[in-house]
Amino acid sequence: DRTESQMLIIFGASGDLTARKLIPALFHLYCGGYLPENFLILGVSRSEFSDEEFRRKVIFESSYLEGDLKEKGRETGEKFAQKLYYHDLGASYEASYVALARKIESLDEKHQTGNNFIFYLSTPPNIYEVIAKNLSEQGLTHKDKGWKRLIVEKPFGYDLASAKKLNNSLHQYFHEDQIFRIDHYLGKETVQNLLVTRFANSIFEPLWNRNYIQHIEITNAESVGVEKRGGYYDGAGAMRDMFQNHLLQIVSLVVMEPPISAEAESIRNEKVKALKSLRILKDEKSLSENIIRGQYLAAEIDGKKVKGYREEDGVNPDSTTETFVAIKFFVDNWRWKDVPFYVRTAKRMPTKVTEVVIHFKPPHHKIFTESGMFNKDNKLIIRIQPDEGILIKFGVKVPGQGFKVERANLDFYYDSLIENNLMAAYERLLLDAMQGDATLYARADEVEAAWEFVDPILQYWSTSKDATIYGYSAGVWGPQNADDLIEGENTWRNPGS
Ligand code: BG6
Repeated sequence: DRTESQMLIIFGASGDLTARKLIPALFHLYCGGYLPENFLILGVSRSEFSDEEFRRKVIFESSYLEGDLKEKGRETGEKFAQKLYYHDLGASYEASYVALARKIESLDEKHQTGNNFIFYLSTPPNIYEVIAKNLSEQGLTHKDKGWKRLIVEKPFGYDLASAKKLNNSLHQYFHEDQIFRIDHYLGKETVQNLLVTRFANSIFEPLWNRNYIQHIEITNAESVGVEKRGGYYDGAGAMRDMFQNHLLQIVSLVVMEPPISAEAESIRNEKVKALKSLRILKDEKSLSENIIRGQYLAAEIDGKKVKGYREEDGVNPDSTTETFVAIKFFVDNWRWKDVPFYVRTAKRMPTKVTEVVIHFKPPHHKIFTESGMFNKDNKLIIRIQPDEGILIKFGVKVPGQGFKVERANLDFYYDSLIENNLMAAYERLLLDAMQGDATLYARADEVEAAWEFVDPILQYWSTSKDATIYGYSAGVWGPQNADDLIEGENTWRNPGS
């Protein structure tokens, strides 16, 4: 009910993201009664469609909506479709913005959307700036009547310099509080729950520091390869595609100090501070010793041949783009001094899983010497996906004589809480933007702080001839060398294997 009348204008409406994520999310919001009465979606791109053709493409003939339409019925689909319009920008962008502006004005008048507009940029990033500029020139960004917001898809920049440049140019046309930079990991319930686990409980936070934590491990694994996105991925790699955004967002929520409130600005202030406290790896020695990158090689998985990365469509056969990266780093602040963080992300792993593992220090005085088990550390495992939940591993006495200790599990599953599926990330994020809540969106300084950490690594890879890239067979947990990254007797926790 806080969602005011408004129009959502999607640039790049003929693209994959619109059909795969945005329209299904909007359809769910519609079915759940979250959309305001006066609401419409205007799809914009260079392809030629009539309104009807666009509705057919993204609703009635879309494989992404097939199941939902069956469940909710054709009639619901028809009603939702009435909220969709399309505008063809034509080949020459500039001139057609005049026509776009007229279309927006007339739709606004007809549907009483109150001059409240959200512009969603889901185009290739090199035209973000042109779009923002043209919207501004057409007077579509002025806030005198109604509010205006801009949602920007990833990737936000290609490196630190381009991210700064993009921030500067968007700031010419939009204020920071109008800009919503999407990171869909922040839309995940379990990522948001990192804040609740830490700051709504009194049993974890007192231990959440160097006195009790030995090391922290974050794994993000996907079993798929680059699928049909070889062309894009080859210019990006795991570092830009996943680490700079999604993984560093998770890191910032694990590392941050308690915010003074749950308001967007206090949470984002703490996240920026956290990102700025990461010790940047910049000299050759630390760059070569603390980062392992890899690329998947052809293999047979479950009797099926799987292509190696260099054989994928759209990928340069001599490519040195990484599909695996594992990094060890430290956080230079009072709380985390000397606690190693290990983070890895990769494609073509044995399974799809994302989790954060907090390894606690073992008890300092060991009195139960009967079994080796007690020497193992306590672990808190936060399962981001799948099997969303939280697992605590702790020692218990084996029944019987003496004091044998064994490990037991306290395990919480999210699906025990809810009847329906968790709200998809894009639903939550779109609804927040519609209501003007930027808590789950990245702020300009946050994105730049993340690039500060990543930039020297990318530079090292592109300039140093000693920067090795290791091969790993598709379907294993990455190159062997990544195991040596972890100090002492520890190894990565490879869930499910
Ligand atoms: C996207 C990346 O941002 O996240 C993809 O571009 C990746 O390469 C995807 O597959 C993973 O998202 P999720 O929600 O499936 O973990």
